[in-house]
Amino acid sequence: MGSTTLNRPFLKWAGNKFRIMQHIHTMLPTGERLVEPFAGSGAVFLNTDYDQYLLADNNFDLISLYQILAEQGEDFIGQCAKLFRDATNQEAYYYRRRIEFNKSKNLERKAALFVYLNRHGYNGLCRYNASGGFNVPFGRYKRPYFPAKEMYRFYQKAQQAKFLHVDFAKVFNELNTGDVVYCDPPYVPLSKSANFTSYSAGGFDTQQQKQLAQLAETSRQDGIPVLISNHNTQFTRQAYKQADNIKRFKVMRSISCNGQQRKPAGELLALFESRVA
Ligand SMILES: C[S@@+](CC[C@H](N)C(=O)[O-])C[C@H]1O[C@@H](n2cnc3c(N)ncnc32)[C@H](O)[C@@H]1O
Repeated sequence: MGSTTLNRPFLKWAGNKFRIMQHIHTMLPTGERLVEPFAGSGAVFLNTDYDQYLLADNNFDLISLYQILAEQGEDFIGQCAKLFRDATNQEAYYYRRRIEFNKSKNLERKAALFVYLNRHGYNGLCRYNASGGFNVPFGRYKRPYFPAKEMYRFYQKAQQAKFLHVDFAKVFNELNTGDVVYCDPPYVPLSKSANFTSYSAGGFDTQQQKQLAQLAETSRQDGIPVLISNHNTQFTRQAYKQADNIKRFKVMRSISCNGQQRKPAGELLALFESRVA
């Protein structure tokens, strides 16, 4: 499948799976509903064809944005469009909006600002300080793209989806027969010094990676298949050794701190098939 036939997520998102959709497609079991405990930008949701979706993430701002877009569609897209002009692509303006975002209690305004910050901030990062304040610096892009088409596509497909702001472990309590689970946790580090886990306040540690593998094992015993993505490392090969099928491949990815150097990173997909006939 060429990338021209794929639907691009409207958010820039670290670790998004847009570029490896063809590998994911070959591994995803069929079912009625796709459940994603680590929804991120929704690349997998947007490029699969299940009847229903349950999209969860522990990033409150992300899930709130999806709920508002799903409900309001074009009206909300119009609100976001107002934040994409020459005058809004300026450093001082960006920092004022960042302060507004961190103070605002108005969820709709916050959601529109989240889209603005995502496209005008450095590298499309989503990073918070210890007090939960969004702290990504200005990105200095020439003309940030307003993803109107991509937001509209998301809105249309979101009519088949439910969005949940919860920790991944809780999502496993929501599973029903006929579900398929796709898990895309924050990557385990490729090296001891590397740290790619700051998607939201609080990281994702080794214990949580192991807990996820254990939840995949329990789910398949209950008849619900689970596919997990991660880096291909000694740790993940060990953590997913009970999987029925492991696919390894390389992908060009921006993994360095400055986001410019692209190295091929080893990826892995581990499928825990249903144990119930
Ligand atoms: C690799 S990204 C998912 C990318 C997504 N598949 C995509 O294509 O855009 C990992 C996601 O896990 C979320 N996350 C991190 N820790 C979590 C936790 N404990 N529970 C649920 N979600 C978590 C992050 O907010 C982030 O969106």
